[in-house]
Amino acid sequence: MILVTGATGNVGRHVLDLLVAGGHAVRALSRSPQEAVWPAEVDVVAGDLAAPASLDAALAGVESVFLFAVPGSGPAFVAAAQRAGVRRVVLLSSGGVDDEAEVQDGPIAAYHAEIEQALRGSGLAWTFLRPDVFAANSLMWAGQTRSGDVIRGAHAEAASAPVHEADIAAVAAAALTEDGHAGQVYRLTGPQSLSHADQAAILGRALGRPIRYAELPAETVRQAMSAHVPGPILDNIFTTWAASVGRTAPTTTDIEKVTGRPARSYHDWALDHAAAF
Ligand SMILES: NC(=O)c1ccc[n+]([C@@H]2O[C@H](COP(=O)([O-])OP(=O)(O)OC[C@H]3O[C@@H](n4cnc5c(N)ncnc54)[C@H](OP(=O)(O)O)[C@@H]3O)[C@@H](O)[C@H]2O)c1
Repeated sequence: MILVTGATGNVGRHVLDLLVAGGHAVRALSRSPQEAVWPAEVDVVAGDLAAPASLDAALAGVESVFLFAVPGSGPAFVAAAQRAGVRRVVLLSSGGVDDEAEVQDGPIAAYHAEIEQALRGSGLAWTFLRPDVFAANSLMWAGQTRSGDVIRGAHAEAASAPVHEADIAAVAAAALTEDGHAGQVYRLTGPQSLSHADQAAILGRALGRPIRYAELPAETVRQAMSAHVPGPILDNIFTTWAASVGRTAPTTTDIEKVTGRPARSYHDWALDHAAAF
């Protein structure tokens, strides 16, 4: 049995579908399972990674886990996994984690690194997926593109190599079901470094409309986002954007190495999600 946590999320829902399509026995964990629609083949359990007492039932009979990173949850998850006899864990970590750093650069990298650390010392066979920025972050622009052709946001020239969530999931499914991935750290990127302005233009091509990115002062955007995102995380996002302005984001071929297929492009992602925009 494979347990998929974060199963209602951008990545987890694809992991679930790939495992079901591959004929694997799958259990999905959600804090509110009644609010989602699940494939008939999936065993669904209510559970919360921040409430370790709920994990024993979820982990009973489980051999492998796709793990969503809830801040601070590493040690209790590891203890529950060891009690249940889990053998393999594939963690959805972050591209921000830096193995060379004594102190991680910001809270996002720090809490993912803490969970990695708990797994490294656990005796479980672990695989870490460290994605770059998700292409799915662009969904935050959907409200603007539904009402016009201009995306207003911060740092037009901030660069990343946005990665399709289905590619992250394909690597996860391979690591959960094949041998040879234990102890591996996969740095998952899209095929190309793109600025926010580039992404807007590509989105426009996919939608058949001339979409452009209009830069606003970072502080204006930060204020608007502060209603939904906690302050320290928001600071982390804006610091990362500012630091990447005018840079070329590194790309890797880890997705192709693991799945045998090149990473999907941002244009592919935009076509897959055109309806949202
Ligand atoms: N966005 C990016 O650019 C980016 C880049 C690199 C890494 N990441 C990392 O990738 C992850 C985001 O993945 P995603 O986009 O697939 O997720 P998502 O769409 O944001 O969904 C969050 C998922 O986590 C589950 N979840 C949240 N808190 C939980 C808890 N306490 N116990 C159990 N499940 C919990 C939710 O399940 P229920 O609500 O059903 O319980 C949901 O399935 C984060 O760790 C993020 O740091 C993101």
